[in-house]
Amino acid sequence: MTAVPFGRGVRIAGTGRAVPAEELTNKDLEKIVDTSDEWIQQRTGIKARRRANDSETVFSLGRDALLKALAHSGINASDLDMIIVASVSGEMICPSTAARISEAVGADEAAVFDLAAACSGFLYGMNLADTMIRCGRAKNIAVIGVEVLTRLVDWSDRSVSIIFGDGAGAAIFTADPDPSKGCIHQTMHGDGRLWRTLYHPKLDRDVPAGDEANPIRLGHLRMHGREIYKFAVTRFQEAIREALDATGMKVDDVQQYICHQSNIRIIESAIEKLQLPADRVYINIDRYGNTSAASIPICLDELLEAKTIGPGKPIILVAFGAGVTWASCVWNM
Ligand code: COA
Repeated sequence: MTAVPFGRGVRIAGTGRAVPAEELTNKDLEKIVDTSDEWIQQRTGIKARRRANDSETVFSLGRDALLKALAHSGINASDLDMIIVASVSGEMICPSTAARISEAVGADEAAVFDLAAACSGFLYGMNLADTMIRCGRAKNIAVIGVEVLTRLVDWSDRSVSIIFGDGAGAAIFTADPDPSKGCIHQTMHGDGRLWRTLYHPKLDRDVPAGDEANPIRLGHLRMHGREIYKFAVTRFQEAIREALDATGMKVDDVQQYICHQSNIRIIESAIEKLQLPADRVYINIDRYGNTSAASIPICLDELLEAKTIGPGKPIILVAFGAGVTWASCVWNM
């Protein structure tokens, strides 16, 4: 799916992030599961991740990230037309987390829904927000990426428990009279044939034929890491190449690459294969682990806070995740 710029422009009015206070280092994990700091760092690039306590939830982290984004944006919650919460770990399926957040922040008129595209969720939401605003159907849209995946992992499963971390990031998108601002290219992809590579079975009937021998307990994430790794390396590079080709840019024409933080080796492989300028590829997986839908908006918020990104050359955002899904966005600040 490719969108050419049409209608009015879109800008990011403000961003925010909220992460749990507890930092769980690889050394802490060594006490919980049979692993080592050295193995985790070498295979994933992760040194630590944040873990939610009992009172920190998808709702509370998402709300806090949105409140910060609203404060930075200067836009009133009551002027939000829509709140999209990208998450696969919400406390309740009904109502949506977005509904509860809208009440908490006073966005009484906003359309509210949750979006389950796993680690691609925030980019799916950002692409939808840009399109809705660009064509005049909405003026202000909040997109929140938030996960508490540490509640879904089996801590005895060392291939999964070492990867994920908790957190939230939010962005407020708003209409801008300059049509060149906002998304100049976007893709949203899926391949449902690969859903079995990462899923969350609650009952026996959820477990697909052939995976019964997998010893991970029900109620916890099951992941076939190697298969996801292969899919991610390929699609990730394809998505960046496609974004560059579609916009006629060379790798140096991009001010910043914001990649889903899933494994440092997947990002490094793209840097090497596509000859990306490494100093313009943002990395924070060492501090947060893989926060799924929260990964991209946390990166975005840190980069804006540090004033590393701003008006000028476009940025490219790329993500992939369970489903499987993958998405990209080329954005003019
Ligand atoms: N600590 C120590 N050893 C571990 C380990 C851990 N946490 N996890 C696995 N191992 C061991 C395995 O038992 C295996 O040992 P063996 O060779 O004696 O059998 C060995 O390390 C290699 O295991 P493997 O699963 O092949 O490792 P890997 O290099 O593929 O790395 C992942 C595992 C999970 C880090 C990697 O596959 C990955 O990052 N996949 C993508 C995951 C992802 O992105 N998921 C989210 C989607 S957005």
